[in-house]
Amino acid sequence: MFLRKRLKPELPSQAAAKPVAERSVPQTAPLSTPRVTGKLAAPFIDIKRKTHRLLIETMRQQGLDDDSGPEQIRSAIREALEQILADSARLFNRGEKDRLIEEIYYDMRGLGPLEPLLADEAISEIMVNNAHQVYIERSGKIQLSEVSFYDDRHLLQIIDRIVNRVGRRIDESSPMCDARLPDGSRINAIIPPLAIDGPALTIRKFKKDPLTISHLIGYQSLTQEMADFLKSCAAAKLNVLISGGTGSGKTTLLNILSSFIPEGERLITIEDAAELQLQQNHVIRLETRPNNTEGAGGVTQSELLKNCLRMRPDRIILGEVRGGEALAMLQAMNTGHEGSLATVHANSTRDAIARLETMVLMAGTELPLRAIRDQVRSAIDLIIQIERMSDGCRRVTSVTEIVGMEGDCWQLQDIFTFQRQGMGPDGTVLGQHRPTGLWPKCADRLAVRGLPLSPSLFQGENI
Ligand SMILES: Nc1ncnc2c1ncn2[C@@H]1O[C@H](COP(=O)(O)OP(=O)(O)OP(=O)(O)O)[C@@H](O)[C@H]1O
Ligand SMILES: [Mg+2]
Repeated sequence: MFLRKRLKPELPSQAAAKPVAERSVPQTAPLSTPRVTGKLAAPFIDIKRKTHRLLIETMRQQGLDDDSGPEQIRSAIREALEQILADSARLFNRGEKDRLIEEIYYDMRGLGPLEPLLADEAISEIMVNNAHQVYIERSGKIQLSEVSFYDDRHLLQIIDRIVNRVGRRIDESSPMCDARLPDGSRINAIIPPLAIDGPALTIRKFKKDPLTISHLIGYQSLTQEMADFLKSCAAAKLNVLISGGTGSGKTTLLNILSSFIPEGERLITIEDAAELQLQQNHVIRLETRPNNTEGAGGVTQSELLKNCLRMRPDRIILGEVRGGEALAMLQAMNTGHEGSLATVHANSTRDAIARLETMVLMAGTELPLRAIRDQVRSAIDLIIQIERMSDGCRRVTSVTEIVGMEGDCWQLQDIFTFQRQGMGPDGTVLGQHRPTGLWPKCADRLAVRGLPLSPSLFQGENI
């Protein structure tokens, strides 16, 4: 059953309560293209509503149902639309009609106003705050799109369709849902009563051609020298933690680092929603599972990690360390699974270490802080901090080694940093990636593994 049928006719929503004139629904739409644009101009909304109503009858008369082919449905929509337009005072040209047909079709079958955003390769993230406010990320910049839904019920219907397609459910009793679309895109939906202003949906679009290290160098996220260093570290089995804020590019960098792992090693990935696209052959991908409707059957990252240790992994790649699995991860890194990689949500290198400590403590272990710190120190070799800056660019801000502890204070050694030098007139963050000039303490380990570091990597122009 669709969610809209299970919900009350009107959900509380500040946006929905506003009169139409106050909403961000555009009054006119660009009419030059027959392609569905996602913009719902007022006259279009009215025509679409009427066509929808008539269409049910047209489809019944023609013996069509939800399983009928796309062309049959489109032709029924055209027929219903022509009837409605015959009574309309406004004239619609062919392009507009084609566009209406596509929009109605996508409302019925696809993801409605989201379809054009999903089809646009330049959009990497879609953030639906409520029926009348949809933000997108385009080329690193977050902007308000012109897309809107009719109302909360329309948005709920689309959310319901998305989660149903992947065999999941969302309603008042389980108002949150994390899932992965068949194309690999990651979605999160949350609806009232938890989402106060109406349903919200976030889609991280899957990149068919994943970013590579050359892309990152081209985008000035890091330099060739940094890339060469990281390449050697990954190949030489250093344990690496990638730290950064939300959407800063952690998973992308993790994916790229994993591509430096030589073929032939047995890799096991553990993720909440599988996003990694490993290039190697010898890979097993594991994904957590939420509880079912009875509140049972969920499988956590911790459990997957425990199981994975019995699968003889050479390296473990943990999408994001978030909780109880932190201790098991550190122990695995310390006991024969060197070269493991993970990401953590943190705003600085020191925060990342503090978060790891907290996660282990919160997991209810009896270990004293000193012992936890020993585990962290011997497990993590390198922390890469990445940030999405105000100009929309993602930059690695530091590559840091953990040296040890002095008293209660972590001793860290930056190998590369991003030095900010102000802001350009167009808002571009100015600055440079520079080696600090310090010789990495991991150099000996790399040399032993036949990967000697070239001193030229660490000689900045002015050092
Ligand atoms: N260096 C980069 N330059 C440009 N775009 C990037 C870069 N790194 C990642 N992206 C893009 O940014 C978006 C977010 O990337 P990613 O999923 O790796 O972030 P994340 O830090 O893992 O996010 P989350 O915290 O939500 O897990 C993706 O669309 C990705 O393609
Ligand atoms: Mg991620």
